[in-house]
Amino acid sequence: MVPLHFTCRGKHMFISKLGVYRAVLTTSALAGVLALGVAVTAPVTAAEPLDVPVSINALMVTMIDHSAHHIWDHQAMNRTLDDPEWQLVEYFSIQLAGAGSLISLGGSGPADAGWVASEQWRTFAQAMSNAALMSMEAAKTKNLELLGTAADALVDSCEGCHDAFKPASPTEGIMHLPDYDHLYHLFL
Ligand code: HEC
Repeated sequence: MVPLHFTCRGKHMFISKLGVYRAVLTTSALAGVLALGVAVTAPVTAAEPLDVPVSINALMVTMIDHSAHHIWDHQAMNRTLDDPEWQLVEYFSIQLAGAGSLISLGGSGPADAGWVASEQWRTFAQAMSNAALMSMEAAKTKNLELLGTAADALVDSCEGCHDAFKPASPTEGIMHLPDYDHLYHLFL
């Protein structure tokens, strides 16, 4: 009971802080309008994203490929999935959808900054996120046909980017075999 009570209080405090923040914003925006006699847009200071402290090579092997294989392997079972299986598909689709944005930010690998500066790179990263969102939707609606379409779109996004950018051997030498093979395939 005690932790629950605590959480509720924390939430309440958060909401009231947000309320104060909104009130301050509204007041200063109003002051701007009154002073200038025109509607002004308050300048927004964009926070710099944090540096990505690991390499794209490492994220590919430990996160992106791993999440994608949960989607592909469930799809390849070619049968109705039960609720916990759909939830796994949803879970890893969420990871993969977020990972698309993550790999557009950079990384600690030697080639990462150059790759993410390319418009084509962003297009493939976006395509990967979009395919993952599709498989997330398939999981939510338990739609096997949509899962198949999403799995295909996902392959296209990986292969398209690999054809365009992936060097013959990993820049940091990180690979499934022998490094992370036990995390790779689930069912196949
Ligand atoms: C936006 C571009 C891009 C997308 C999208 C992408 N990759 Fe990659 N991937 C790369 C690059 C570039 C490398 C090489 C990284 C390095 O060597 O530093 C790589 C490396 C890898 C590696 C390790 C390299 C190896 O030779 O073993 C795996 C595994 C991998 N990707 C899987 C995937 C999978 C699965 C998907 C799709 C779900 C995917 N990637 C989507 C660009 C991409």
